[in-house]
Amino acid sequence: MSQAVVAEVQGNVAVLYMQNPPVNALSQSVRVGLIENIKQALDNDNVHAIVISSQLALFSGGADISEFSGGNLEPHLPNVLDVIENASKPIIAVLNGPAFGGGLEVALSCHYRVTFASNKVGLPEVNLGILPGAGGTQRLPRLAGVAKALDMIVSGRPEKASKLSGVFDLIVEDPSNLLSEAMAFVQKVIADGAKIRKTADVAIDKASAPDELFAQYRQGLKKQARGFFAPERCIQAVEASVSLPFEQGLVREGELFMECMGSKEARAQQHFFFAERAASHVSDYDKSTPVRDIKQVGIIGAGTMGGGIAMNFANAGIPVIMLELKQEALDKGLALIRKNYENSAKKGKLTQQAVEERMALLTGSTEYAALSDVDLVIEAVFEKMSVKKEVFAALDKVCKPGAILASNTSTLDVNEIAESTSRPEDVIGLHFFSPANVMKLLEVVKADKTSAEVIKTSMQMAKKINKVAVLVGVCFGFVGNRMIEPYGREAARLMLEGATPQQVDKIIYDFGLPMGPFTMGDMAGLDIGFYVRESRREFIEHDPSYCVVSDRLVKQGRVGLKSGRGAYMYEPGNRTPIPDPEVVEMAKEEAARLGVAQRDISEQEILERIIFPLINEGALILEEGIAAKSSDIDVIYVYGYGFPVYRGGPMQYADEIGLKKVYDAMCKYRDELGEYGGHWFEPAPLLKKLAEQGKRFADFKQ
Ligand code: NAI
Repeated sequence: MSQAVVAEVQGNVAVLYMQNPPVNALSQSVRVGLIENIKQALDNDNVHAIVISSQLALFSGGADISEFSGGNLEPHLPNVLDVIENASKPIIAVLNGPAFGGGLEVALSCHYRVTFASNKVGLPEVNLGILPGAGGTQRLPRLAGVAKALDMIVSGRPEKASKLSGVFDLIVEDPSNLLSEAMAFVQKVIADGAKIRKTADVAIDKASAPDELFAQYRQGLKKQARGFFAPERCIQAVEASVSLPFEQGLVREGELFMECMGSKEARAQQHFFFAERAASHVSDYDKSTPVRDIKQVGIIGAGTMGGGIAMNFANAGIPVIMLELKQEALDKGLALIRKNYENSAKKGKLTQQAVEERMALLTGSTEYAALSDVDLVIEAVFEKMSVKKEVFAALDKVCKPGAILASNTSTLDVNEIAESTSRPEDVIGLHFFSPANVMKLLEVVKADKTSAEVIKTSMQMAKKINKVAVLVGVCFGFVGNRMIEPYGREAARLMLEGATPQQVDKIIYDFGLPMGPFTMGDMAGLDIGFYVRESRREFIEHDPSYCVVSDRLVKQGRVGLKSGRGAYMYEPGNRTPIPDPEVVEMAKEEAARLGVAQRDISEQEILERIIFPLINEGALILEEGIAAKSSDIDVIYVYGYGFPVYRGGPMQYADEIGLKKVYDAMCKYRDELGEYGGHWFEPAPLLKKLAEQGKRFADFKQ
């Protein structure tokens, strides 16, 4: 008998507890256990009703995703649900905690459902690129109403039980009374004749689901679901619940489920699901590595990044001391943080009391001595090595032993920064992304001497402030910014060759990024890239085409959105980019000066020339060990740069289309472009090797 379901006969009721820690995933053992125990309870004449519940925190988290690639593991969930729905004794689901995906589908196939008001249930399958494939799309509309079910299934968002009165036969207010009230309810069901109520027999409320409901829903979803495969199939499945009898609806759901399961988007989204979890598994420390307590944080520099970083800690209830050179800068920084919080309060996302509580956690100083007792300092001053070194030398003098000294530098050498202290083992890079209070990503940059303890503490601290941390090594730009460099470079070179900013941006937007490189450059400020280039002229001096138009724009004071003109023009107070013929003319002049022939460039070439060098840089990064695994790069790109999750990240995208295709294209552009920057397309040795072996980046292990 399977151990994953434990049965207890309590008087005339058999209570089945799913027991598959940590989340009661519906693994094969649970599915077998449910069928076996239900059969046994049906055979037991003393049993008049069956309860399915759990003693873990969750009722069930749903399907066991690790089985997705595990072949044909019978019985499948729909078989289990058949046994439940067709049982000759009433089966009551008692939801002691959240039920998601298959977990909710189990409950929906039971004859009655009981839970407490604040419990949450949902069908989040769409987030994995699929749809609920065990009757969820046919049963939920019958119980929750079509509109509600549609929203839950297409958005994947969980809903409170109190908002789902049609789904539950009893909703108790106090969770601690759930068991006793549920058992009383079961006795009532038995006393009332132990009626079997199949969800399949519930008539769907067709009047509540006119065609316009679906049309409107589709319209509202257009932007949000751009590029995803599953949301439209979810809608079709719910439509089938209205237009077809139950059994046929199930068949249609099955067909749509298989379509989703075979889609590249589902592969990408499932890859990403695992990638995010795998990012926290690093080999630099283990269970025995101690973790330091972070009770108080210091932040140097109350500018754009310092302010955003401080908010993360205040949001998590951790006090912050901010240090600035001058009182005015400090006051300005703190005032901006307050304004951000007040704006959230105006939108109803925070109460005024929460604003005050958070602000009370933020204090300021202009004296380093104020940092003598902090456990972690994050430096966010100007991006200049000499300034950073001064700051770290000062921190070294005042900070207590064991304090972690971190830099938010986006490009500078963390090893060199660490050497300006007497404790390089305590120095680490914590690279936040802008806006730092919003963006989920944190690149944790380990330097040569950073201790395992400091790495582990940083990775765990990231979770506390609600960030997704990825551990990377030291190099110019680390992972994210290093890979964005060739992306921006090729966009700029394509403009020289005759592509317009709007043409390039549209292709990248259609590929799935939130905006193209020219719009992004204008938003960030073209001066940022310019100053980086100024500090790296030796790297680019052998390519006269390198960002020449952008350099010219910056020299004319056209630094993007903030100056009203950059690669595009802007109306005052409006962020919509307007094509600027002057920029196209400028590109023409520069092309003539450099002897670059302008031409019509195909969509395919534009896409490949921008995305493939980015992937190629990722291959170099992997090979050098700057990233430990290709999936880490994908996490950085999805969370830090808006790379579409339905492509799984740049490395998964390359794996999906095949590394040979990427390699061949790199060679082709290298040869075709020749003297004109062909060398930028030299394939990374790892890309070449894996392409020749027919392997994927995901196969590469350090
Ligand atoms: P910012 O110019 O907005 O702020 C820097 C602040 O540091 C200013 O308020 C300045 O008064 C203060 N400051 C300068 N020297 C100081 C010193 N010796 N002691 C105390 N305070 C000092 O700059 P931003 O954008 O916040 O950048 C800060 C750091 O974060 C840089 O290293 C940058 O590369 C990095 N970064 C920036 C990102 C961005 O998108 N802005 C993204 C990720 C990292």
